[in-house]
Amino acid sequence: MKTLSALTALSLATFVHGHGYLITPQSRTSLGVKANLDSCPECTILEPVAAWPDLTAAAVGRSGPCGYNARVSIDYNQPTANWGNSPVVTYNAGDIVEVQWCVDNNGDHGGMFSYRICEDQALVDKLLTPGYLPTNAEKQAAEDCFQAGTLDCTDVSGQSCGYNPDCSPGQSCYRNDWFTCNGFSAGDQTKCKGVDNAPLNSCYTSIAGGYTVTKRVKIPNINSAHTLLSLRWNSFQTGQVYLTCADIAINGSGGSQSSSVQPTGTSTAATSVGTSTTSPTSTTCAIASSVDVTFNEVVTTIYGQTIKVVGSISELGSWSTSSAIALSASKYTNANPLWSTTVTLAAGTTFQYKFINVQSSGAVNWESDPNRSFTVPKTCEKSVTVSNTWR
Ligand SMILES: *[C@@H]1O[C@H](CO)[C@@H](O)[C@H](O)[C@H]1NC(C)=O
Ligand SMILES: *[C@@H]1O[C@H](CO)[C@@H](O)[C@H](O)[C@H]1NC(C)=O
Repeated sequence: MKTLSALTALSLATFVHGHGYLITPQSRTSLGVKANLDSCPECTILEPVAAWPDLTAAAVGRSGPCGYNARVSIDYNQPTANWGNSPVVTYNAGDIVEVQWCVDNNGDHGGMFSYRICEDQALVDKLLTPGYLPTNAEKQAAEDCFQAGTLDCTDVSGQSCGYNPDCSPGQSCYRNDWFTCNGFSAGDQTKCKGVDNAPLNSCYTSIAGGYTVTKRVKIPNINSAHTLLSLRWNSFQTGQVYLTCADIAINGSGGSQSSSVQPTGTSTAATSVGTSTTSPTSTTCAIASSVDVTFNEVVTTIYGQTIKVVGSISELGSWSTSSAIALSASKYTNANPLWSTTVTLAAGTTFQYKFINVQSSGAVNWESDPNRSFTVPKTCEKSVTVSNTWR
């Protein structure tokens, strides 16, 4: 939670909220949301960095090409049961495909973005090994390769490239007014519209609603049963870089350095694409049988109120409010009204739950519907954090 309070403090200091992440193809971060593990997908931020004018000077550190979300302590460079095990889509080499990311209504921050593919399979493989947490050096080596593999916006004919590294000097990528968003610098328009004029909530963000940003990219001619497409957004306004990745397969013939990722011991799969599952035997970690699940709930309370969690399993009181588990307010501050508790649960357990606010009189106030649900991951991870905000 040190990371959370550090981030919160920084955010407040700079009035930064919002941000963005890759959604098409479905990114690891999107899958983190789907698994109910990531409550702020647009908050996967590398900071503080000097994002301008030397766009690639900042070391990616733990963020790597797939991002680290300090808000929920998730490292997306590490495959888990919920993401990173298999491609979400197979492209053919040379295809022009539509890709999309989602920017929050309250935080575009300007700057430029690029889509990248690293053609050195050995470097990418470090981010594809189930349960394996790549070292910072491995993340940086992969990131350098992704930067070298930037997919030029101008490779797609007829496409407007005003916000990409290969824009022309003088285009808006060199200024801070793209997304026509003036949320941070006055003007009559206090929010963003997105470069495509996409409607608000055309994609999911947790803070102020998101706008899709749609581009087309040309898939390079490599052959890989499992590789990554990474989005990098260099913020102009804030010292931040946003990194996200999606697991993809590419059906091609080129790339002397690239090889298909094949299950260990399989020799017949050389021509198959998109069906590979990386071998579980290549991992050295042990699957945890029980997991410490930390429930975080951000909710403003007054003296005498206690936040508790109650749910469908006996460890969470079997929906009986008198058996609910109390959260601790030991980290509660006005800036970050956080209640938290940790419960050890069997891996693979699926349950429903809600938070309740219990008055000193014993009166119980429930969160609104629907019930929240969660599945304890069955991975090498021995702990996981579920972050929520009262509703
Ligand atoms: C792979 O590409 C080849 C050549 O373009 C094509 O004939 C084949 O159908 C593709 N395979 C898949 C699975 O898309
Ligand atoms: C939440 O779970 C409780 C207990 O199973 C159930 O009675 C209630 O209908 C559920 N609420 C919704 C909105 O599904």
